[in-house]
Formats: sequence, C-alpha cells, structure tokens
Amino acid sequence: MPDLWAARLPGGSDPRARAFTGTVAWDWRLAAADLRGSLAHVVMLEQVGLITPGDAALLKQGLHQLLAEVASGAGPWNPDAEDVHTAVEEELTRRIGEPARRLHTGRSRNDQVALDLHLYAVDAARSLAARVDDAIRAVADAADRCQDLPMPGYTHMQRAQPVTVGHHLLAYAFMLLRDRERLAQVAARSAVSPLGAGALATSTLDLSPDAVAQALHFRAVYDNSLDAVSDRDFVTELAFACALVLTHLSRLGEEVVLWSTREFGFVTIDDAWATGSSMMPQKKNPDVAELLRGRAARGLAQLAGLLALQKGLPMAYNRDLQEDKGYLFQAHDAAEEALAVVPGLVSALHFNPTALSAALTEDVLATDAADRLVEAGVPFREAHGRVATSRSWDQPGPADPSAVADSLRARDRPMGPGPQSIARQLCRIRDSIARPV
Ligand code: ARG
Repeated sequence: MPDLWAARLPGGSDPRARAFTGTVAWDWRLAAADLRGSLAHVVMLEQVGLITPGDAALLKQGLHQLLAEVASGAGPWNPDAEDVHTAVEEELTRRIGEPARRLHTGRSRNDQVALDLHLYAVDAARSLAARVDDAIRAVADAADRCQDLPMPGYTHMQRAQPVTVGHHLLAYAFMLLRDRERLAQVAARSAVSPLGAGALATSTLDLSPDAVAQALHFRAVYDNSLDAVSDRDFVTELAFACALVLTHLSRLGEEVVLWSTREFGFVTIDDAWATGSSMMPQKKNPDVAELLRGRAARGLAQLAGLLALQKGLPMAYNRDLQEDKGYLFQAHDAAEEALAVVPGLVSALHFNPTALSAALTEDVLATDAADRLVEAGVPFREAHGRVATSRSWDQPGPADPSAVADSLRARDRPMGPGPQSIARQLCRIRDSIARPV
C-alpha cells in the first residue's frame, strides 16, 4: 500500500526514512487492541449514520476475522507496513475492499494509538495483578509454614530484636498486596477513552465518543482533546507499578541470596531452583534470586526512559511518543517474568531452624531488658544506659530459646511478630486476595 499521505507527498518515502520511522515489528503487540478499538469505532460510525449498515456489517465481519487470526498468533500481514494501524487497515482493504476505506472516518492515528495503549494498559495491569496474587499466595503459604520459627530481625543489617520467619515473609506479602491494589488503580485510571480527539482538535463530524467509551467498558471520555492524544500518564503509571513490583521482588531476591550463603545458612534452595558453576564443582548458586535483582534494573530503566521521553514535549501529539511502546512493553515483560518465578522460588526455600536459632544471640533481647526496667519505674534513657553498660555486647552468647519465645509472646500486638498477630496478618492477606481486584 502506498504511504497514507501519498496524495500529498507523491514521491514516496526514502527507504531509510521509512525504516527509521516504521514500527510494525514491535507495535504489532497492539494488534488485538487496535482491532477491538476499530470495532467499537465502526459500531459508533454506524450508530451516528456516518456509514451504512451494509458497510458496517462487512467491516465488523472483516475486523472479527482479523481479530481471530491475531488471537491465534498471526504476525503482521505485511511486515513492511509502517505500523500496526497501517498493517490492519491495509489487510482489511485487501479482504473487504471499498468499505475498509471508510474505517478511518473521523479518526486519526493519534487518537487511535492512544486508544490502543489504553486498552493494552487495562489488560496488562489486570493480568499483572493476577500474577501478583499468585506471588502473594506463595509467600503467605511459606509464612504460614514458618509462622512461629524465630529468627533475628535486623536493622542496618545488624541483629536487632526477635521476629519470626513468618513475620518477615509477611512483610513481603503486604508489599505485594499494595502492588496488587496499585495495579488495579492503574487499570481503572487507564479506562478512559481518547477516541474522538482526532489528530488533536476533535472532528467536525457528528461522532459519539461516549458510545465508543461505553462499548469498550471505559468509565469516561477525556475532557480535552489535546490531553487525550498526548497523555501518557497512564503508561508511565503502569511502568511505575511494574518498577515497584520489581523493586519489591529484587529486595526479596537479595534476602534469598544472603540467606543461602554459608555465612547465614538460613535457607537451602531446592536444586531445581539453584544453579551450578561451569568451573567450580562444589558450587550451588542462587541465580534465580540474583536475577530477580537484575531484572529489576531493566524495569526501572524503562520508567526513567518514559519520563525522559515526555519531559520536553510541547502539545499535542509528537512522533517521539511512539517510542513509549518499547518502554512499556519491556517494563511489562520484566515484571511478568519476575513474578512468574516467585511462587516456584519461594516454595523451594527450606528454612534451617538450627542456623536461625544460632543467629539468635542474647543481644536481641537487650531492648526487652530495658523495657523491664521501665516497668519498674526507671526512665527509658536511664534503662537504655544501664543495659548498654551492664556487660560487653561485642561477643554475645546464644539467647535462651524460652526467653526468645517470651519476647515474641510479649510482642503479640497489632503489627507485631507474636503468634496471634501473625495469624491475623495471614487472614488479612488471604481475605484480600480472595476478593477480586
Ligand atoms: N505509530 C504511531 C505511534 O505509535 C502512530 C501515530 C502516528 N501519527 C502520526 N501523526 N504520524 O505513535
């Protein structure tokens, strides 16, 4: 097919310019969204009388057929097409002829690509939220198994006060629960339709943007056409949600790496979730956990890229914006790939009670000793000083396990690592993920 602007620039594009500006190889990922958007557009054009019922029927039939092919994995019908929108329109024209030339009535690729991205973002955010649920479930199950297994809690990476493995893992479950809520909010905020904004200033045709929004189950239409075609806040928010999921998983990965060292020895990783070395016969490495950290770097870079892309753009649509897709898809993939391994990795962790109890030295009970003095009426600052100077804290011996258990019971309060608090936390997590996002 000739360029969409061939009537104005009949000489055709230089192949190098075409190659530099074309995107079909990577924006093909929007094909299903593009076809769904076009279907809603056709229904609206028919409703307002801009196309005949006969043309509308042919267009719908053709678009449905293409959608079915895309759903079963069809690639771009013409790999030389400029972008996904052009490839779809071109193929539709090849199949149904003349009526396809009415598809773009009242529409620009600027509002079309924005609509595609909105549809993509809603689906991506929802499917990521479902993956986050799987990760939360796995972390909660591991926490359940180890809810009363004591371990030292750390600040500044120094032993601080007793907690349990369950309490520690549940902290991750709550981080992920916020990710789930955040993704649901991003999905809801993305469900706003830009179609009808046209290139930038709507249309002189009597379109019905509300009908398109309703057909796509979107909650609203943009209020301002310039904003509609240039807004990529929802893309950026989705990339941020991905970056934060990845940041959380990276922290979990880091703990697994540390815990699986012989220095800590807190966990052993199942062989299936560990790797060996090509040179050192003795090695068992935590590569999956390390790559949770590594994959996060990729996700975070996409967010920075998206912000950089937008920061100097004047109103309204600028071609720079087509680069947004590369960033969005990579952020989405990085988050999805990382989330996909979490259930397997977490259930492959075996906590080692002997190493955990050896790490519980007397120093983790020092604050408790100060608290007892406070109960006897000593001002806390004095109690702190008395305990600090009562002995040398540099080489503490093992803590008495029953004193650790007492300390945990004494911390059985809201937020705390005690048994009832952990049971409440587990209920809270499980109730939350039982409710749909
Ligand atoms: N492929 C383009 C993008 O993703 C579509 C919009 C092109 N608009 C234009 N006026 N050239 O942004």
